[in-house]
Amino acid sequence: IQDDTFQQKSILITAGPTREALDPVRYLSNHSSGKMGYAIAQAAASMGAKVILISGPTALSCPSGVQRIDVESAADMHKAVMKAVSDCDIFIATAAVADYRAKHIADNKLKKSDDELTLTFVKNPDILKDVAAMTPAPFSVGFAAESQNIAEYAQGKLISKKLDMIAANDITAAGLGFNSDRNALHVFWKNGDIKLAPDSKFHLAKALLALVAQHCKNKTPS
Ligand code: C5P
Repeated sequence: IQDDTFQQKSILITAGPTREALDPVRYLSNHSSGKMGYAIAQAAASMGAKVILISGPTALSCPSGVQRIDVESAADMHKAVMKAVSDCDIFIATAAVADYRAKHIADNKLKKSDDELTLTFVKNPDILKDVAAMTPAPFSVGFAAESQNIAEYAQGKLISKKLDMIAANDITAAGLGFNSDRNALHVFWKNGDIKLAPDSKFHLAKALLALVAQHCKNKTPS
């Protein structure tokens, strides 16, 4: 069912894992399925938004009415986000961006010779932090996948990354989160929070976007 909550609004979403090359055949990545981000993209489009989805490698198909831009590495994702963000009102970062990338990507396949292999990694840019620090910045929403002290870490990230909202989820909860079709979120903003009970990622996406719609009215338009 279409509604017009986000008519005239443009929403940029990152989703999925990033893939950091080690050599021509190997990479470092994680188990993110992209399902939460794709559900948000689909829900946002059904709420009337113009949606751009910047996605790392996933097995998912692009929701209808959504423009998808495929990327691999965190550096690619950062570049694609920075290119698209200036026209956006809302930025929602669901991607599980690799924190580090190999300092040098080997030109040739790494050979097994010694019993131990040491690689040096360098920190990737924090895409969400860079977007939220822009002036003007879009209404910026982060995700925090945590296994302990969920509220404390999420509120810490809300402040340190200068976010407008953060959705935390407990990655240890059985049957929820990574790779699952279901999730549960604890959403925080500057002066409040709400727990969204376990539900399908699509229903949670709708509930999260309803909160975004309520709160982004208070932010000066970018
Ligand atoms: O600090 P942490 O990685 O837990 O923060 C998670 C949030 O920051 C997520 O919204 C994620 O998409 C975003 N992020 C990002 N770029 C990074 C690391 C995280 O956009 N390099």
